[in-house]
Amino acid sequence: MAEPHDAVSVIATKRDHGELDDASIDWVVDAYTRGVVADEQMSALAMAILLNGMTRREVARWTAAMIASGERMDFSSLSRPTADKHSTGGVGDKITLPLAPLVAACGVAVPQLSGRGLGHTGGTLDKLEAVPGWRAELSNAEMLAQLEDVGAVVCAAGTGLAPADRKLYALRDVTGTVEAVPLIASSIMSKKIAEGTGALVLDVKVGTGAFMKDRATARELAETMVALGTDAGVRTVALLTDMSTPLGLTAGNALEVAESVEVLAGGGPGDVVELTVALAREMLAAAGVDDADPADRLRDGSAMDVWRRMLAAQGGDPDAPLPTARETHVVTAPATGVLTRLDAMAVGIAAWRLGAGRARKEDRVQAAAGVRLHAKPGDRVTEGAPLLTLHTDEPERFERALPALDGGFDVGDEPAGSTPLVLDRVAD
Ligand code: URA
Repeated sequence: MAEPHDAVSVIATKRDHGELDDASIDWVVDAYTRGVVADEQMSALAMAILLNGMTRREVARWTAAMIASGERMDFSSLSRPTADKHSTGGVGDKITLPLAPLVAACGVAVPQLSGRGLGHTGGTLDKLEAVPGWRAELSNAEMLAQLEDVGAVVCAAGTGLAPADRKLYALRDVTGTVEAVPLIASSIMSKKIAEGTGALVLDVKVGTGAFMKDRATARELAETMVALGTDAGVRTVALLTDMSTPLGLTAGNALEVAESVEVLAGGGPGDVVELTVALAREMLAAAGVDDADPADRLRDGSAMDVWRRMLAAQGGDPDAPLPTARETHVVTAPATGVLTRLDAMAVGIAAWRLGAGRARKEDRVQAAAGVRLHAKPGDRVTEGAPLLTLHTDEPERFERALPALDGGFDVGDEPAGSTPLVLDRVAD
């Protein structure tokens, strides 16, 4: 059967700064998923979108077309409202681990379909897989049952949600077109809208360790995603948060799980607690629940109870010792003074090279690899005292990880002005 449109005309329209009509968008996304539009044609279109942008209508239609390429989940049978959180990815960003059980402990179900990490930011599934026995794959029926019973699920997104995005994201990765704001926004939001959450809070990271290095682009991405969610009937809010230094004191899978358990036990680093509570408050408000204080639920142990049940429901043993690395290497402070900068990207790349992350999709990650920070920007340090401890099972990795930290921190006489963790809030 003849196709109703042709790819070259669609590409040429966007190349010449034109606006794509609804029918062209529906067709090109569907035809690409079917293999009728070739990879080289979609690459050219993605590049034209990166260079020339899209209107709000075009992005909304593109997102709808990606959602229509697969299945949609439905949580309307649950006895409580749902809210999810998506982070654009950062170093030491373990927030989902304490956040999902915390929000569930406050009466809102959290269906969190997550991914594995690629590059310097870790994936939530990789972190949870450090827990002995825990499995990421659940059927839709298992997910629904766990949401009703425990209230929180973190599991792998099945291949059925937005298959067009899966194909397009892989293509963008190898064609220099990941950074297009309309394509990032539609990629993230097609999966979240198809997942069926009632409310969504976006944590858009800004800084050296984030996708978005500057605040203006991060705000543009946040506004685009909030508009897409709102137009699709999902109550959506975004926080812009600082990612110039790692979150908390750990980057690496098992190290981050241990730190999350500290937070659930009522302790943990101040920045991790602050962001977890701030995001929980946004999720509860977006889900229409105003009678629970997340800080109380961390203190009274009820979030910890949900965490334990959430792990056990997926085969994990919350009492099993976490894996520890066979080798460690300590990096010491070069001078006495104040740590004025500790670069998120430097730590992220070091953790990745130690084995915490993967370079290709099919690589395995080491559960115990990563970096522990002994100081954060603003803290006093003493020459020769430990600043960072690197962890890995393969000592030959130290040689590759250490150069990533060259120039990654500064010690000065005076504290540099501190940056707030939550930089901005975007709502429709
Ligand atoms: N994460 C996604 O899911 N898609 C993007 O395009 C970028 C980050």
